[in-house]
Amino acid sequence: MVELAAGFGWLAACHSTPPLTDHEAEGKHLYTVRCAHCHEENDLALKKVPPDLHNIFKRGTLPSGSAASDAQVQSVVRAGKGMMPGFSGRFTQEQMAALLAYLHTGLR
Ligand code: HEC
Repeated sequence: MVELAAGFGWLAACHSTPPLTDHEAEGKHLYTVRCAHCHEENDLALKKVPPDLHNIFKRGTLPSGSAASDAQVQSVVRAGKGMMPGFSGRFTQEQMAALLAYLHTGLR
């Protein structure tokens, strides 16, 4: 019975998370299409496993140890890093902003 109550508590907490804004949802779409196949699935079986990007901004530093700032993340996305391709010219400024907004949600 206690476990059941805890279970409902979790559900309630889950439902109380505010829904993504349209801007964040656009970023989620871009992340799903462009980033998740590497960062969630590593479908190319890269030897350096693409790092987990959940909560990167909350952690304060990127997996490489650089500061987790918008500017730093944008520059990695534009220029690429190691086995990660650069996306320079592939996102409009508005799309880049949406992608960052979604990364700021911690990847919900
Ligand atoms: C082809 C696979 C691949 C794709 C696609 C990809 N990444 Fe990466 N990503 C990597 C790998 C591998 C690394 C680790 C690079 C290293 O440290 O050598 C990385 C690292 C990162 C880092 C951490 C950089 C740091 O300094 O620690 C961020 C942030 C990042 N990627 C964001 C993204 C975003 C956002 C997208 C989508 C626009 C994306 N990546 C798409 C493979 C990928």
